Amino acid sequence: KDTIRVGLLGLGTVGTGVIEILHTNKESIKHKTGCEVKVTRALVHDIHKTRDLPGEAVQLTTNYEDITKDPEIDVVVEVMGGVEHTLNVLLEAIENKKHIVSANKDLVAEHGEILFDAAVRNETDLYYEASVAGGIPIIRSIVDGLSSDNIRKMMGIVNGTTNYILTKMSQDGSDFDDVLKEAQELGFAEADPTADVDGLDAARKMTILSILGFSMPTRLSDVKLKGIRGMSTSDIAYADKLGYTIKLIGIAEHDEKGITLSVEPSLLPKAHPLSSVNDEYNAVYVYGDAVGETMFYGPGAGKGPTATAIVSDLIAVVKNIRLGTNGNNYVHPQHDRLLKPKAK
Ligand code: NAP
Ligand code: HSE
Repeated sequence: KDTIRVGLLGLGTVGTGVIEILHTNKESIKHKTGCEVKVTRALVHDIHKTRDLPGEAVQLTTNYEDITKDPEIDVVVEVMGGVEHTLNVLLEAIENKKHIVSANKDLVAEHGEILFDAAVRNETDLYYEASVAGGIPIIRSIVDGLSSDNIRKMMGIVNGTTNYILTKMSQDGSDFDDVLKEAQELGFAEADPTADVDGLDAARKMTILSILGFSMPTRLSDVKLKGIRGMSTSDIAYADKLGYTIKLIGIAEHDEKGITLSVEPSLLPKAHPLSSVNDEYNAVYVYGDAVGETMFYGPGAGKGPTATAIVSDLIAVVKNIRLGTNGNNYVHPQHDRLLKPKAK
């Protein structure tokens, strides 16, 4: 195949970024994969909305089957969000032998096992780097880069919206609701920003990190959770006077007693490196027995960073298609695939 066709489910902040990167980096992507990678169709709610997209025209549709059942489409990139309906749409796409790239942490944290099972049966790819920490390649790092080690602890800031809110409240004394509105306008917040504010988005990301980093079954309900709702500028100013910064910190720990997971606002001494992670930036410490302490830092939300992760996953899928190695993706430890010999 010298052209790989992509169907986008969603053409909002992230979907638009995907089209922009594929257009801007068209030649280098062709050089890296040996193929042209083209978005041919996109699912949206409203086909009449004005959209400023570079490159060749993309056919818009409101019927997801135009994508999941299109025999020309090789890869489905899911950037629309949602859980139950989106799960069914992706399962249908997988049954139709489409490879999947998704940014959807809600879906992966809650139904990753079902998706993984379908992908294994159909020998299709399922990649989701963009689901955790936006532009930081944290999933690849723990699944591939640190796979030889025993990861004991992962800790950090994994939600851009709340970090943006806490930063602006601390630096400018801004009001919570005003900064939340700004984060929404900048494309950082979820469609329903309560998932950001109440810590659920960060909890989903810590669940995914725990499943992959510890290779252990982990449920979203295992996370002890508290968000930043009700935090006032005076709370932040008071902490500041005492020499502390307030950050929403996720922790995942694995010891002989099992896994402990939490997401909660925490007081960090100003000298702590996570204290100076500001705006929509994220940072994750990963501690392993052999490697010791590593830290990953970068933009955790927004169009460009998130689309970078998606297109990198897409490039991995395209390479797998070219080499005939599909199905060798992020292995989900809740599945026993690795224990069974592959059927001939
Ligand atoms: P968004 O700007 O709200 O875009 C959502 C897109 O999906 C829109 O194009 C919308 O159509 C379409 N859509 C949603 N539900 C649909 C449905 N049921 N049927 C048809 N079209 C539907 O969202 P986003 O910020 O790009 O985020 C997309 C996904 O990426 C979410 O899962 C989010 O959690 C994840 N993510 C986002 C970021 C970020 O920084 N924004 C970072 C990492 C991961 P219309 O255009 O017609 O409204
Ligand atoms: N709403 C999410 C955040 C988007 O603010 O971190 C990136 O996952």
